[in-house]
Amino acid sequence: MGFRSPSVAVVMHRPESSHALVYFDNNATTALDPAVVEAMLPFLTEHYGNPSSAYSFGSRVGKAVEHAREQVAALLGCEAREVIFTSCGTEGNNTALASALAADPDRRHVVTTTVEHSAVKNHCERLARQGYEITWLPVDARGRLDLAQVADAIRDDTAVVSVMWANNETGVLYPIKEIAALARARGAFFHTDAVQAVGKIPLNLRELPHVHFLTLAGHKLHAPKGVGALYVNRRVKFAPYLIGGSQEHNRRGGTENVASIVALGQAAELAAAAMEDENTRVRALRDQFERGILEAIAGVEINGDPVERLPNTTNLFFPGLESEALLVLLDKAGLCASAGSACTSGSVHPSHVLTAMGHSATRARGSLRFSFSRFNTAAEINRGLEIVVHAVEKLRALMPSTMALVS
Ligand SMILES: Cc1ncc(COP(=O)(O)O)c(C=O)c1O
Repeated sequence: MGFRSPSVAVVMHRPESSHALVYFDNNATTALDPAVVEAMLPFLTEHYGNPSSAYSFGSRVGKAVEHAREQVAALLGCEAREVIFTSCGTEGNNTALASALAADPDRRHVVTTTVEHSAVKNHCERLARQGYEITWLPVDARGRLDLAQVADAIRDDTAVVSVMWANNETGVLYPIKEIAALARARGAFFHTDAVQAVGKIPLNLRELPHVHFLTLAGHKLHAPKGVGALYVNRRVKFAPYLIGGSQEHNRRGGTENVASIVALGQAAELAAAAMEDENTRVRALRDQFERGILEAIAGVEINGDPVERLPNTTNLFFPGLESEALLVLLDKAGLCASAGSACTSGSVHPSHVLTAMGHSATRARGSLRFSFSRFNTAAEINRGLEIVVHAVEKLRALMPSTMALVS
C-alpha cells in the first residue's frame, strides 16, 4: 500500500516472552503481532486523514480501509462488501441480532444456547424482558448440542437462531453448517458468534450459504482491542445498529478506527498464513500441557468434548481446589490463565457454561481455562507445567482435607 513510515521504529521479532510471564490466556486476548503493529503505526502518525474526506490525504486512508476489508474477506471466504467493521465482538453480536429482529416484526422468537458468551446471552435476556420469546438450547455433559433438539426448537415465528462457532471457555465446536440449514428451512436468520473460531480453525463462508451473520473480534487474533467485524450475507436486508454518517457503506455510522482496522486486515492475512501452525504446533503444545497436568496431578478431568474443540484450548477441573485461589498462586508465579470467561472473572459466580453442562457449582469453581497461541513455545509449556503442579501441591498442603477428595 506504500503507507509504511521509515521514521517509525518497529521491533520486528515476535513479542518478547519474558521469562517472568507465561501467558496461557489467549482466549481472553492475544499479544499484538509485531507485523500488525508495523502496519497500523503509520495510521496513528502521518496518515491521520479522515477516510470520508474528498481530498487525497483522506481518500488514501479510505483505500487502506478497503484493503483491510479485502484481507478480512479473504480469511472468511466472503466478498469484501459483506464485511462491516465494528468496535468489538459485542457490537457485532448485538448488531446482528437487532438487524435480524428488525426484518420481520411478526417473528418474535429467538433460539440460542445456554453456553453463549455474555455478549449474546445478556442481549437475549434483555430481549426477553422486552417481550421476545427466547428458547435456550441445553448442552450435554461434554458441552454438545443435540441437532434434533435444535430442529424442534426452531418455529415459523423464529426470527433468528444464534449459535456460537466455538465456546470461549471449553473450546467446544458447534455444527454451524447443519444448524444454519435448520434455521433456513424455517425462514429464520442464522447468526454465529465466531469470535473464538476466526483465525484458529479454517472457515469458509462460501461453503455456508445459510450463515447470514458472523461476528469476529480483532483482539483474539493478534490485532488490537476495540476493533472487530461483522459479516452480513449480501442477500440480507441489513438494518444498521449505529445510526449516523454514511461510513461503512451506510451500514455503521461513526468515523472509522482506521489504524485498528488496518491492523485487523493485517492480522487476518497473518492468521490465514499461520492456520496450519495453529492446528499442528499449537495443538501439540496444548496436548503436551494437558497430558502433563493429567499425569502429574491426580483426579484432574477435562471439561468439554476432548475431540470437537479448538486446537488451542483446554479447560481442566482440579478436584478439591478453588480456582480463584489457584489463580492467585499462578499469578504470583507469572502465569496467566482464567477461571470462567474473562468478562465474568472477579465475580464469585460459577461459570454458566460449566453449570449448563450439568457440572456442580463446586466443579465449576474448581476449573481453569488455559488457552495458547502461536507465540507460545515448548519451553513455556514446561515452565507452565512446573508452575501449575507446584501451585496445586502448595494449595493441597494448605488444605490437607482436599487430598481425600482426590485419592
Ligand atoms: C465467544 C465470544 N464472543 C464475544 C466476545 C466479546 O468480544 P469483545 O470483548 O471484543 O466485545 C468474546 C470475548 O471474550 C468471546 O469470547
